[in-house]
Amino acid sequence: TAATVAAAPEDPLFGLMKAYREDPSDKKVDLGIGAYRDNNAKPWILPVVKKADNAIHNDPNLNHEYLSIGGLAEFTAAAQKLIAGGDSPAIQEKRVCSLQTISGTGAVHLGGLFLAKFHPQKPTIYVSNPTWANHNQIFTNVGLKLAQYPYFSAQTKGLDIDGMLQTLRTAPTGSVIVLHACAHNPTGVDPTQEQWRQIAAVMRERQHFPFFDTAYQGFASGDLARDAWAIRYFIAQGFELCVAQSFAKNFGLYGERTGAFHFVSAPGPDAATASSHIASQLAILQRSEISNPPAYGARIAGRVLNDPALFAEWEVDLRTMSGRIQEMRTGLRERLEARGTPGSWDHITSQIGMFSFTGLTEGQVKILRDKWHVYMTKNGRISMAGLNTNNLDYFAEAVDSVVRE
Ligand code: LMR
Repeated sequence: TAATVAAAPEDPLFGLMKAYREDPSDKKVDLGIGAYRDNNAKPWILPVVKKADNAIHNDPNLNHEYLSIGGLAEFTAAAQKLIAGGDSPAIQEKRVCSLQTISGTGAVHLGGLFLAKFHPQKPTIYVSNPTWANHNQIFTNVGLKLAQYPYFSAQTKGLDIDGMLQTLRTAPTGSVIVLHACAHNPTGVDPTQEQWRQIAAVMRERQHFPFFDTAYQGFASGDLARDAWAIRYFIAQGFELCVAQSFAKNFGLYGERTGAFHFVSAPGPDAATASSHIASQLAILQRSEISNPPAYGARIAGRVLNDPALFAEWEVDLRTMSGRIQEMRTGLRERLEARGTPGSWDHITSQIGMFSFTGLTEGQVKILRDKWHVYMTKNGRISMAGLNTNNLDYFAEAVDSVVRE
């Protein structure tokens, strides 16, 4: 059988990371993977994470036993509240069930697997065009039929709301619609609250199922509640929905694989029972795939989320990250405008979160890499966190040069 397996292409994002690491140039700039960097282009351990980590380390009761199949209960309960709001009626009515997962990827996968197995029809799952590249392979791997809805307008470098709504209107009733809760990856373009209301209205009319992916809560606006607004609005509208939640970025726990999957049942007299049935089926799926999730990251996040003083420190850390990114947006736009770089650059500051969709073409991206040692994905996405006060001038010069070529 070995001979029948053809070589697969390298993962584009991790391939890019490797190429960057191997580049000996001292000018090189990494704008590839969505991971926060400090002003010296170094990974940043959040001070609150360091504090929680130390406390866990010194805890004499710590051991390395298995977690339960659903994960660390104090973590999943707090993760639920972070998404739905502390006073959420859905939580009070016991119609939110939550399992700890292998970060956001594991949560998306568990949700996809659950829908593939238990959705009464074989639904089509709609993702935004473009979306996080991994969505496509995760959902097709579990046998779901994939389709796209328009999202990004190349013309305005903003949201194509008309195209999106039109596709939602014509999609088969009861389709699954993947929505990025905030800080859309890769475009950095989010619907306004008014647009979210329009999206919800069409989805209700067509009985679509919202599948939220949230990996950047606290990164978009620096305000956790505001970044969860869309999810809370859909829950308040009575939707049955699910949420894949990652703590990789907002806790800087990338390698610890810390996340959760939440299924919110629609309100009604049987909602709590339905929710407990769903939880039991999710547990069977989880057991067959990972048995139980890894403990370490959930202990850290759980400790911070459950301690009001640590929680407040976390919010400060989030503002440190989102504030620095915002400064880089302003700084980049100012530099390009000061140079008179052809094109308009206001989208650099109107887009939000970790990424900016620059509008640079694949050819320009290649020149940036070959000639300037600047690494970014082929679609022109840059991770704003890779910019800092030491490389901003250089990057602006590089962009200016390739745009004029
Ligand atoms: C990204 O899009 O850069 C991150 O979400 C990392 C990943 O796993 O793709």
